[in-house]
Amino acid sequence: MKDASPQTVYLSDYTPFGWQVQDVHLTFRLAPEATRVLARIHFAPNPDAPKQEFFLHGEDLTLIHAAIDGRTVSPVQSAEGLTCTVPDGPFLWECEVEIAPAKNTALEGLYMSNGMYCTQCEAEGFRKITFYPDRPDVMSVFTVRIEGEEPVKLSNGNPGKTGEGFAEWHDPWPKPAYLFALVAGDLVNHPDRFTTMNGRDVELNIWVRPGDEGKCAFGMEALKKSMKWDEDVYGREYDLDIFNIVAVDDFNMGAMENKGLNVFNSSCVLASPETSTDANFERIEAIIAHEYFHNWTGNRITCRDWFQLCLKEGLTVFRDAQFTADMRSAPVKRIEDAQMMRGRQFPEDQGPLAHPVRPESFQEINNFYTATVYEKGAEVIGMLKRLVGDEDYAKALDLYFDRHDGDAATIEDWLKVFEDATGRDLTQFKRWYSQAGTPRVSVTEDWADGTYTLTFRQVTPPTPGQPDKAPQVIPMAVGLLNPNGDEVVPTTLLEITEAEQSFRFDGLSARPVPSLLRDFSAPVVMEREASAEERAFLLAHDTDPFNRWDASQMLGIECLIAMITEGATPDTAWLDGLERVLRDTDLDPAYRALMMGTPSQAELARVLHERGHTPDPEAIWNAAETLAQFRAERWADLLPRLAAEATVEAPYSPDAEQVGKRALGAGVLALQTRLDGGKAAQAQFDSADNMTLQLTALGSLVRAGRDAEALAAFEEQWQDDRLVMDKWFGLQIGAAAPDVAVERAQALTRHAAFDWKNPNRFRAVLGGLAMHHAAFHRADGASYALLADWLIRLDDLNPQTTARMAAVFQTWTRYDEGRRALMRAALERIAAKPKLSRDTGEMVTRMLAQ
Ligand code: BES
Ligand code: ZN
Repeated sequence: MKDASPQTVYLSDYTPFGWQVQDVHLTFRLAPEATRVLARIHFAPNPDAPKQEFFLHGEDLTLIHAAIDGRTVSPVQSAEGLTCTVPDGPFLWECEVEIAPAKNTALEGLYMSNGMYCTQCEAEGFRKITFYPDRPDVMSVFTVRIEGEEPVKLSNGNPGKTGEGFAEWHDPWPKPAYLFALVAGDLVNHPDRFTTMNGRDVELNIWVRPGDEGKCAFGMEALKKSMKWDEDVYGREYDLDIFNIVAVDDFNMGAMENKGLNVFNSSCVLASPETSTDANFERIEAIIAHEYFHNWTGNRITCRDWFQLCLKEGLTVFRDAQFTADMRSAPVKRIEDAQMMRGRQFPEDQGPLAHPVRPESFQEINNFYTATVYEKGAEVIGMLKRLVGDEDYAKALDLYFDRHDGDAATIEDWLKVFEDATGRDLTQFKRWYSQAGTPRVSVTEDWADGTYTLTFRQVTPPTPGQPDKAPQVIPMAVGLLNPNGDEVVPTTLLEITEAEQSFRFDGLSARPVPSLLRDFSAPVVMEREASAEERAFLLAHDTDPFNRWDASQMLGIECLIAMITEGATPDTAWLDGLERVLRDTDLDPAYRALMMGTPSQAELARVLHERGHTPDPEAIWNAAETLAQFRAERWADLLPRLAAEATVEAPYSPDAEQVGKRALGAGVLALQTRLDGGKAAQAQFDSADNMTLQLTALGSLVRAGRDAEALAAFEEQWQDDRLVMDKWFGLQIGAAAPDVAVERAQALTRHAAFDWKNPNRFRAVLGGLAMHHAAFHRADGASYALLADWLIRLDDLNPQTTARMAAVFQTWTRYDEGRRALMRAALERIAAKPKLSRDTGEMVTRMLAQ
């Protein structure tokens, strides 16, 4: 039972725990309805902590027995844990509890998925396993014994004794409880080995359910590449004899970095060409890297408290982005990350859920695994690296690992390392961690006597609890082009620190065209009244691949906004400029595929709102449709050429080159379908020998409304594959016309295979609807109501997934009065649910506070 009146936790209240944990011995006697957990823990007073009552966290635990130094004690229990009188000096705490993993639907703590035992302890799940100081600054060495008949029994660290019905594990590295893991079940492994830079031989395994062993090879290669990359680029070596990954079907998140025993949502590790798309392969490679990289940035150096979450997540996202850029295409990765920032982080930073990269208070920490903490947290590190340069960044990181190995650290520690390594004062830079909101940067130019001056002004709009903002340090990467298209000033980093600041460039022979915020050098909105001619010029000539892409995106946004607000016809100058880029065979197909993409409808709604319009989802949908049809007709000659270039002759491989070609092919097919009514899509669907081509074709058929047969055939073919069926559920909603999507979603919730307790399946259907901008915002509110119904239902079972999905309502105040009232009603209905979880309660309260 959770407390009915939610407590707010404040960063400023931090106090260390009163005891150190010297070692932890855990014994698990596994049984689905009644698992016994026996804990033997040595505590000793912490000399650095103020005197306090001995309190251990514990939730949903049945206390069987507790003893101190061998004598039975009777602790005082509450919904959050227990308190107990303890000796003044060191003592041994022994405790036995009973828990019911089979009844744990929240997928937090010890739970069961398809008969397999598994755990998820971040952030505060260990307290559902035994009584413990469940906070990241309490680190200890764990020894674990698992008793049960399951053939495979895993925990953290290195294997110890095993025998009939038991297995023991010992993790020599002190760790916080959130990194604890246990897995037991009927599993099979895909084994391999890795030799580290110092010759340590490491056993590697990916553990899966029998039948899935053929889908592990790609993940294993990704793991070995990650291990090598972290040695080469960061000098970080793996530190145990064994590294295990387990695939689990029921998992709230993507994956979890438990020490030596990473647990993955099966959708984020299992892959085969027949069942996984190129995007799946890329995501799997990135997430395996991400969790592996946490071994140093998160595990060896962990967080002092959960307010410091970005210390491990922002840095690890930054590291996995570097890895992906190295493995694949750096410009493509940068563009995708900017899309992510604009599509997910900017809306968060500009709405009721806005919070700093390092929040200062929370009710439920699970609600702060956000785009701001992760993606903006990574961008902040990217800015730091740009400001100090690659060499000093490397120096600072070496110092960080050196100085803080074994620590539970803070953002202050992190910044101090940079200050010490570089001699820079980062006081102002630190605002990136404390100030929420997206800075808007406007710029004016001046040209006289060969001197060109750029004047920047920065303003950050108010966010909840932060009405006034101070100027931030903005690294602005700028290049200048001559009117003939030559670059006269190569990329230069300007450091904006003032509310208004000018930079001069002397000795130019003609007034240049500026290329601003190159490589998306800071997470800001550029407000520049650039002419269409200037943007077209950059689209043709910019040497910065990000800005070249962005010039086209901006033209696309202007074009669509003119269509929406003034009934304009599509901008042919833009389309012709873009066509020249698309015809340039020197450019990577992956890059051209991104070029071909138009801004998402959600992004258009955000920009319209930013400019003081009320976004009309129907009008946005219609404009996007009109533009797509116009492009298809105008490019009728171009499409077959691109289709030919996009054809892959070689056997399927998810390498960057093939992926790029198929991405280009997908863009072409979407337009082609508008011309041929689905002929090419049907042909591709019928002949596809990999999931990428099959699913692209199916998407086009759904969009064309010619999907009945293909959907049935697809279901028939894949009904036994859970992960492929998630795609089937999601796609027929996500690609449906806006007027039918909600009915489809409704019908699919009655499908026999709609297992709403499985987060992947729930997200495929309800998330599929919520991500479809025009369908979600259908004027009659049918989608809002359906989603609210399901969130109310899921909340009792799985608060974490409910709360995360509830965030799709965060943009509600942008819309017209009718939609606003309907969304508010949906939120209020959720808020009024009896026994609403703390997770969902906090989210809806914050959204309604607007
Ligand atoms: N530590 C997180 C997993 C996590 C998140 C546990 C929230 C508990 C609550 C893990 O390292 C992570 O960040 N996973 C991401 C994917 C990653 C590639 C950004 C995820 O699960 O989505
Ligand atoms: Zn992470």
